[in-house]
Amino acid sequence: MSEEVRTSIHGQWSNRMVFILAATGSAVGLGNIWKFPYIAGENGGGAFVIVYLICIAVIGVPIMMAEVMLGRRGRQSPINTMSALAAEEGRPASWALLGWLGVAAGFLILSYYSVIAGWALSYVFRTASGVFEGATADGVSSIFTNFISNPESLLAWHTIFMVATMIIVSRGVKNGIERAVSYLMPTLFVLLIILIFYSMSTGYFFEGLDFLFTPDFSKLTASSVLVAMGHAFFTLSLGMGAIMVYGSYLPKETSIAKSSMMIAVADTLVALLAGMVIFPIAFANNLEPGAGPGLIFQTLPIAFGQMEAGVLIGTLFFVLLVFAAWSSSISLIEPAVAWLVENKGISRVAASVWCGFATWLVGIGSVLSFNLWAKKTWSLSLFGETLFENKTFFDTLDGLTANIMLPMGGLFIAIFAGWLMKSESSKKELNTKEKGYNLWLLLVRVVAPIAVMVVFLNVIGVIK
Ligand code: PHE
Repeated sequence: MSEEVRTSIHGQWSNRMVFILAATGSAVGLGNIWKFPYIAGENGGGAFVIVYLICIAVIGVPIMMAEVMLGRRGRQSPINTMSALAAEEGRPASWALLGWLGVAAGFLILSYYSVIAGWALSYVFRTASGVFEGATADGVSSIFTNFISNPESLLAWHTIFMVATMIIVSRGVKNGIERAVSYLMPTLFVLLIILIFYSMSTGYFFEGLDFLFTPDFSKLTASSVLVAMGHAFFTLSLGMGAIMVYGSYLPKETSIAKSSMMIAVADTLVALLAGMVIFPIAFANNLEPGAGPGLIFQTLPIAFGQMEAGVLIGTLFFVLLVFAAWSSSISLIEPAVAWLVENKGISRVAASVWCGFATWLVGIGSVLSFNLWAKKTWSLSLFGETLFENKTFFDTLDGLTANIMLPMGGLFIAIFAGWLMKSESSKKELNTKEKGYNLWLLLVRVVAPIAVMVVFLNVIGVIK
């Protein structure tokens, strides 16, 4: 096929801005606002945050460029893109497995992502009802604990969120995804800024900043480095084909380097802002920064209960969080849906229904992790090193996908784009200045793969 006629059967973004918005919509989600603060809290703050930022810059951005580039060149679902590009570059057809790894990761991530998005959705109504007005930290915590101990209600919210996701996915790229994100992301940003003013007023703002930005490297363990690196992939939606599939809808002329950097900067800003909002509130109310997945649900409502117009601002905040989660969840399942449409000749609607149903089923395991299965735990050791210990179904799934599958996917993407693709091909596709191209090549060939491998080997105790 000549390059000029190569376009995706699923459509194309209207322009570059729309791609940036959609990819930012994919990147900015629960990862930034819900996950980043709680894992930063669990892993001791500052030093963890620095490792995370380094990973974004030297692994995340170059791999994002690689992923967008592969997607735009292949113009199909990640599985078919990888087989097409492998054929084009004279590489084994088994590279399609990389696409499969991504589909599996996206599917598993969405299963628990939807459960947490369901929490956020229920908090829209809880906040709007005014229950948090004047509530104490203890009151807010017990509302949360009661809520997650009820499997039926978690299941109901998970179901609603999953249906909402499938509705957008089934409408397709242009009609669904494009419109949803254009207004929501900027509004979310503004709300976070408003919340920063509240957190400044708690009197613990600098404690929060100190926790977030002053590194104490003695707190850094091999596993927290792995979590930081895994989160860099998770938060940028990398390593599983989401960004690749969005790249496949990208018009030819767009600069991949500039777009990737803009997406990474926006995503990082949102996470840091969220941290700057959450930690001062936590410290002001004597809450543990390492409280785990409930952290934002136990801190933010306190703020909403105390601030002027808190019911309104709080409700709006959770609405936006749900939208941020929504624009991420559609990209988690898009690779699978696109593949079904391409290979099985079924409609987008049917593909969405099947994928949604299967994901929903697996999600029930995460629903139960917070109540009936809270004591059912898993451990994993490799070469005699414990990778994780006594983790619930939810934690296991999260650890396996974010910290292992995504970095693994990213590693192979880097190897393919950096070493196995002819540099004429990647140069033409990236179309940047010589210097920029060489820097990218260095990062994607050497720095990123070595970094990922070193972290992996360190965790399994092969290197110390
Ligand atoms: N980046 C999203 C978030 O931070 C999650 C996600 C991961 C989306 C992988 C797509 C692919 O919430």
